[in-house]
Amino acid sequence: MCGIFAYNGTQNSVPFLIEWLRNLEYRGYDSAGIYCINNKKEALLEKAIWKVSNLATKVERNKEKLDNYNSGIAHTRWATHGKVTVENTHPHYSQNERFYVVHNGIIENYMELKEHLQKKYTFYSDTDTEVVSKLVEELFDWDIFSTLEKVTNKLVWAYAIAIIDKENPETLVGAKLGSPMIVWIGENGVFLSSDINAISNVAHEFTTLEDNETVELKNGNYTVYSLGEVVKKETEEVDDRFEKADKGIFETFTEKEIHEIPSVLRNALKGRINFETKEINNETLSALNEYDIDNIEIIASGSSYFAWVVGASWFKEVAQIKAEVRISSEFLYETFIPSKRTLYIFMSQSGETADVREWLKMVKQKGCLTFGIVNVVGSTIARMCDMGLYSHSGIEIWVASTKNIVAQLAVLLTMSISMWLNRDLQMKDAKAYIEKLEELPNKLEGQLEQKNTIKVLAKKYSKYSNFFYLGKNLLYWTACECSLKLKELSYVHAEAYSTGELKHGPLALITPDFPVIAINPKNELRDKNISNIKEIKARSGTVLGVITAGDTTKEIYDDVIEMPKTHNILTPFLPLIPLWLFSVEIAKELGKDIDKPQNLAKSVTVE
Ligand code: F6R
Repeated sequence: MCGIFAYNGTQNSVPFLIEWLRNLEYRGYDSAGIYCINNKKEALLEKAIWKVSNLATKVERNKEKLDNYNSGIAHTRWATHGKVTVENTHPHYSQNERFYVVHNGIIENYMELKEHLQKKYTFYSDTDTEVVSKLVEELFDWDIFSTLEKVTNKLVWAYAIAIIDKENPETLVGAKLGSPMIVWIGENGVFLSSDINAISNVAHEFTTLEDNETVELKNGNYTVYSLGEVVKKETEEVDDRFEKADKGIFETFTEKEIHEIPSVLRNALKGRINFETKEINNETLSALNEYDIDNIEIIASGSSYFAWVVGASWFKEVAQIKAEVRISSEFLYETFIPSKRTLYIFMSQSGETADVREWLKMVKQKGCLTFGIVNVVGSTIARMCDMGLYSHSGIEIWVASTKNIVAQLAVLLTMSISMWLNRDLQMKDAKAYIEKLEELPNKLEGQLEQKNTIKVLAKKYSKYSNFFYLGKNLLYWTACECSLKLKELSYVHAEAYSTGELKHGPLALITPDFPVIAINPKNELRDKNISNIKEIKARSGTVLGVITAGDTTKEIYDDVIEMPKTHNILTPFLPLIPLWLFSVEIAKELGKDIDKPQNLAKSVTVE
């Protein structure tokens, strides 16, 4: 959600800024801009709407002017305040055109600040960030670093900002509260960025800034301060966790990530379950079992939330522990009654989702036990939790979350089995789950072979503008997740309902042109679902069934996608690959940008 990047050193900053801005583009691709300067105070400001490639083309046209800007700031925008226009594109500047600012976050009191600043300055954009640049001008005390502190004291967060003072181009300053920021020293200078993905394969180590810290980048080095005092910071090594994103043989990253699911699942289980002895074998889970936990509260957003609801049912069914799931953006405004016997689990692919992070802060302040299930190593949520497990699904660079959901589900199920064994020790049943779990990656691998069938179905179904996704019990949540993917990737309207709920209202919408995707594996709920499907067919509805291979009820559906057989508890895994591929194929039919869906960004760092 907006990416910022800055460089100060001996080389021309323009190529660095453009290259690493591309690496941050998943944080927003509404517009992009750079401001570069050299020690002679010659500067270049360039902005373009939409993708970074548009900015690169614009910059390329100015080739002859591009030498020797050895300092610069850059931004890729996910619009919050103001439309996608060049005026609203960062970097923003003060009225005297001396101070240039890039910002990730939302300045919540920007209206109040703007009202005051408008008495002195004329605003050219609708952004909250322009307020920061005007505030720097108003409060400037001849030292950009001490001015920064005065400015941040006035801001009601959230922000990660980097500022250049045109009159002192050898220094670049940054500050953060809420939004992430890292700094590192490279071969030719010092760098600042929103996250580690910008630097994969180029830096050896980096430093993460904490809230309320500020940083000064100067002479190829950086100094971090907190409350005016220098802070000695630890550095973290960049290792091969930060692999360079590469599409390989696939047209899109999203498809590549879906195809990685079987190996991601193996990875998420590896080292946690001993498939030979059929035992859970993980130090963190053993340590967790030392706590007297009688309740679990789970906080997440979006796809992570849907995975959580399935996980909560596993905690209840398998481990016999009460578990409640909260949408993080809502949970923040509910009354919080802390409990020492509750385990608070925070689940996030990015480890940066603002609502989840804010909740975590509050729960920690109350001294409760926090556990993170996070994919991005070293992310804010991962660092803040008392304990946790990584989902280890590898880099998930573009917007739609797929392979990580499967890894999250694997972690949740492993946790529930571990907690259950700790309480109940019914080894025989646990062994049955573990046995089936071991077979699962191969089964999911087999599902990828249905790609061509799904392509044909997507061609047929891409003419429809509305879909219902139906599922019962745990599969209702899978239906929610898969309908979210269709909306997100193809911009086609899709809603999920529990199968039996349709006749309580939504059935009124059913026509042959409003198809239903019915997830209905062969289990004890199948026949109940069939009754509901018959009700749809009686009204000439079109039904695509997602059913167990070999199910003899196949003929009641207009079309089917088949799933392998597995233990009932594992069925939430099965519709994911085929229905995600279905969404991808529909999006392709409709000519959408699958990796960069309109209006969205990865890593939602604003509330
Ligand atoms: C949907 C999607 C989002 C994220 C949500 C939470 O495909 O990717 O709904 O799941 O924004 O993100 P994390 O898991 O990073 O907290």
